[in-house]
Amino acid sequence: MSSTLIVLNLKTYLEGTGEGAVKVAQACKEVADECGIEIGVAPQFCDIYRVASQVDLPVYAQSLDPVGAGSFTGHAFVQSIKDAGAVGTLINHSECRLTLANIDASITTARDAALKTIVCTNNVATSAAAAALGPDYVAVEPPELIGSGIPVSKADPGVVTGSVEAVKRINPAVQVLCGAGISKGEDLAAALELGSVGVLLASGIVKAADPKAALEDLVSKV
Ligand code: G3P
Repeated sequence: MSSTLIVLNLKTYLEGTGEGAVKVAQACKEVADECGIEIGVAPQFCDIYRVASQVDLPVYAQSLDPVGAGSFTGHAFVQSIKDAGAVGTLINHSECRLTLANIDASITTARDAALKTIVCTNNVATSAAAAALGPDYVAVEPPELIGSGIPVSKADPGVVTGSVEAVKRINPAVQVLCGAGISKGEDLAAALELGSVGVLLASGIVKAADPKAALEDLVSKV
């Protein structure tokens, strides 16, 4: 396995919901086995167990709530996420933003449960701030490019290189992913070229007519 990481966020796309989540995860697993690159998926909470129990690949939650066991209602409890089979979690995705204090508490909660943490950021300054909190990964994604089909690695390479530099300066143990508009082999190759260790992506694969073929194209240039 290379050290490159690809995480496919299934969001609430219908194509990535319920049995759809299992199908997309199976495509990820097949392509990961073919190319030797780690590919994980982030399904909705209710699909974590369904995916993790049927497909042998890393499963991430899309977020979690920093609550403990006990008198809490309507929360995504870390123990439940872990028991469902997740190995990590996204935190602070642009579509599920948190306060700085809650990002910190979510990282601590996940880390205490031995879950990997991917904190999403929207620019260089927030990448630096997130790095100071010590997650495993910072994933920089300019919100205006999310779902646009315009790859961050082409449209805004500076936010990737700037985040890589800032994160390295603040906390060299933290690795950087980038995302937004990534779907093709050249996008992933460019993302790696800019110093990130991988990508966080969604629509270009989940909504593709043939997600497996789209994934094969994604990994074709590395
Ligand atoms: O979490 C991944 C994401 O926000 C990027 O979405 O559709 O631009 O690949 P997309």
